[in-house]
Amino acid sequence: MIIGIIGGTGFYETRLLDQEHERNISTPYGQVGLKMGSYKGREVAFLARHGAGHTVPPHLVNYRANIWALREIGATKVIATAAVGSLQKDLKPGDVVLVDQFLDFTKSRPQTFFEGNESGVLHVDVTEPYCPSLRREIGQAAARIQVSLHDGGTYVCTEGPRYETPAEIRMFRSLGGDVVGMTSVPEVVLAREAALCYATIALVTNYAAGIATRPLSHQEVLAAMDSAQGMLNQIVLSVLEDVSESRPCGCPRAALELGSLGNAGQKS
Ligand code: HPA
Repeated sequence: MIIGIIGGTGFYETRLLDQEHERNISTPYGQVGLKMGSYKGREVAFLARHGAGHTVPPHLVNYRANIWALREIGATKVIATAAVGSLQKDLKPGDVVLVDQFLDFTKSRPQTFFEGNESGVLHVDVTEPYCPSLRREIGQAAARIQVSLHDGGTYVCTEGPRYETPAEIRMFRSLGGDVVGMTSVPEVVLAREAALCYATIALVTNYAAGIATRPLSHQEVLAAMDSAQGMLNQIVLSVLEDVSESRPCGCPRAALELGSLGNAGQKS
């Protein structure tokens, strides 16, 4: 079994992987560079969502190529990290949230591998967008190293790259949002189409606009990620140590209507 790790803002490498080497994967959507390696015998494929030097903004991330590449090399479970702003006073900067739902406010991103014609049309079920069994494994892994996290939360995904207005944040809160970020959609949706188990470990880097007492900055987000990097790394390594091959969830069957990816990736 190969575990995929998608590192978000401030998470550009996994330390401690043995036999690290680069692999370039060709996909119908372009090339993807992966760092392959292993941790305590577990094979790992690491991918920096924004590129190694944060050169790709959230609305231009090649989400389809990334997910396709992870599936192509045989990953079955994917752990993503994400920096988020908090909409709730009790989700403080430095807190970790294992999100379980999303609200999608993106505007211009391809959200599917299935573009009609030969690839067919898939209306994928997202009742449980983030894999419940992988989330459980992450929760247990964090508990083993005595890191507490918030189990569940609704991720509001905005288009970015700008931050939100306080009015938008008030609206997101009233709709039930807990944290806000710019990348979980369409990543989680594509992972589901690709029948991967996918979960996001969200790190609260700041209070969202209007809740924060000063203007937001990317520097602040990076600084918060930097201080939490060691802890996030520990959680990920703890998951790798104990993650099971079994998949007692619905993820493997999520795209079965169309026989999994089948002809997807063909241009319509
Ligand atoms: N808004 C959107 N994305 C973010 C934020 C935020 O406040 N913090 C980190 N990523």
